[in-house]
Amino acid sequence: MSKNRTILAAAALLLCGCEGVQSALEPAGPHAASIARIWWAMFWGACAVLLLVTSLALYAFIRSPQRRERTRPDRIILAGGVALPVVTLTALLAYGVHAMASLRTLAEDAIEIEVVGNRWWWDVHYLGEDGEVIRTANEIRVPAGRAVLLSLRSNDVIHSFWVPSLAGKMDLIPGRTNRLIIQADRPGVYRGQCAEYCGAQHARMGMHVIAERPADFSVWLDRQRAPATVPGDESMLRGRQAFVQRCAGCHTVRGTSEARSAGPDLTHLASREFIGAGTLPNNRENLLAFIARTQELKPGSAMPSQGDLDPVALESIVAYLESLH
Ligand code: CUA
Repeated sequence: MSKNRTILAAAALLLCGCEGVQSALEPAGPHAASIARIWWAMFWGACAVLLLVTSLALYAFIRSPQRRERTRPDRIILAGGVALPVVTLTALLAYGVHAMASLRTLAEDAIEIEVVGNRWWWDVHYLGEDGEVIRTANEIRVPAGRAVLLSLRSNDVIHSFWVPSLAGKMDLIPGRTNRLIIQADRPGVYRGQCAEYCGAQHARMGMHVIAERPADFSVWLDRQRAPATVPGDESMLRGRQAFVQRCAGCHTVRGTSEARSAGPDLTHLASREFIGAGTLPNNRENLLAFIARTQELKPGSAMPSQGDLDPVALESIVAYLESLH
């Protein structure tokens, strides 16, 4: 019974790896589809080679002694050890080079977004036409059906940007800028993950790419461009004041505090689906917990736990953050 359970659990784990919002086998754009095709070509090619080798091994066991004497080992070595690998690897190389060229071709109407890796979150900059920079963090909204050129940099160590359903991996390397093209053909939420070990919270350095219809994307971008509104409510104004005193040394809320880049820009925090770089869904309870117990939920991150805050001040900060749509 327990053996059956182990097998079932292993099968379930394998299947989990193949489906969902973070799978290279469920491509949602042309670049990921091209990579998935290479994967399937290699998979079926490997299956054919396995079948061939297994059949030959079985044949070697069951053939008659007369045939055994007539076998020419040099021919088998030339065919199986030289000709077969040369043909299959050359074909695979040609296919790979061709696919790689298509991954680098950039459409003319592509938009450009800069992503900067930090331990352990993603700083996201939209570059406006007049050179203005619109900052957000950990969530990258893109228009569906349009190519997006990502400029990838790092502020500290090497990270790697990987949203399996949209494109391949690309490292973010300190001191240089790498480029990656992503594209989502249909609206949806695609999860990604830092794919290069970068320290204690590497596993909690997730991100979400949210593809929207182009009209919705424009509305969203216009909203992000605007500074945060000043709340009219008295208690929220207290929250805003507490935020400025306690949090504004590291986090920016445009229109409220000075520009800082030690932590994520929170100008429109309430418009995001997750907090802590994909760590928790963005809701009141999680915000309270994350601020009070940061070092428990994301140990080692640069933000100290704010559990010493007076509960009323903490509640008011959270209420203020929740108003930042
Ligand atoms: Cu960043 Cu791993």
